[in-house]
Amino acid sequence: MRIVSGIQPTGNLHLGNYLGAIRNWVRMQDDGECLFFLADLHAISMPHDPATLTANTYEMVAALVACGVDPDRSYLFNQTQVPAHAELQWLLNGTARMGWLNRMTQWKDKAGKNREGASAALFTYPVLQAADVLLYQTTHVPVGDDQKQHLELARDIAQKFNNDFASEDDPVFTLPEPFIPPEAARIMSLRDGSAKMSKSEPSDMSRINMTDDADTIMQKVKKAKTDPEPLPSDPAGLEGRAEAKNLVAIYAAMAGSSVDAVLAEFGGEGFGKFKPALGELLVETLAPINARFVELKQDRAALSAILAKGAEKARTLAAPTLSRTYEALGLVRG
Ligand code: TYM
Repeated sequence: MRIVSGIQPTGNLHLGNYLGAIRNWVRMQDDGECLFFLADLHAISMPHDPATLTANTYEMVAALVACGVDPDRSYLFNQTQVPAHAELQWLLNGTARMGWLNRMTQWKDKAGKNREGASAALFTYPVLQAADVLLYQTTHVPVGDDQKQHLELARDIAQKFNNDFASEDDPVFTLPEPFIPPEAARIMSLRDGSAKMSKSEPSDMSRINMTDDADTIMQKVKKAKTDPEPLPSDPAGLEGRAEAKNLVAIYAAMAGSSVDAVLAEFGGEGFGKFKPALGELLVETLAPINARFVELKQDRAALSAILAKGAEKARTLAAPTLSRTYEALGLVRG
């Protein structure tokens, strides 16, 4: 198995990132060769402040290591230090179709009504994401549900490139499979059960950050939007109750149990009892992560060294596929 995934260093690592993706990164470290990267090149597709991006990049490395991504077992790096990502994106731009990119929901959501004013990087964002995974002959990509469409596009690009420029028995690219956790595919905002938990939502009360301290976590859970009904005793009773459903799903994912089991325990109880239990469960898991994060983030030199080491290995692993791609396209490299 070759396992590859990325995260944008655009803000705090939150519970949605953790349950949707990072926890699986950590778990999959023994299943195969793992490359995990900060998608810093993707982060410039939206307006950004350079100094904040730099600071967030270091903080994200610290947060990932605090969560259990082990730089001795996995290659942890940022795209910027592996130019093959950007190079392969350009090569794949010849294969990606405008129509495919136009249909991407992220493009439609983020560009909104102002398409003319959106950056070209936002439009071609999914091609860079395809390059990220195709560069390494990736077999598995652990992500949350919101990345599924981008991975389908990566497969379409790989397939078209293989058809156009390689023989059937010797394809240039492997088709990657998304690995999406069924129990935590999409963690929702604590303030709005119809919006996903996100780094870009202005209200910090909408998300639990992996770096929040115990008091903040308890406060955010206490203030989370709910409804006046007690919890039902079976999952069907959660239909139409998006906020309640989300909190139960978070509890189940954190406890490593199921929605059925959580409702068997809390069915009939009100949120006055359920919320403190959820808060404590979160604090129990997040407190050690927070402590480690606070310690790690002080040492920028150590964080830089982690990225440099990961990038060096990634550059080596990327080289053969990049060469083959140039060659398949008939580009002369001397
Ligand atoms: P990003 O930075 O938005 O999120 C990182 C990972 O967290 C998952 N995630 C969630 N999962 C469940 N519930 C949520 N509320 C939630 N919010 C985020 C995301 O699905 C993702 O797995 N385009 C990507 C970064 C990227 C990438 C890649 C990923 C660039 N290249 C190649 C995989 C492979 C992104 O912006 O993720």
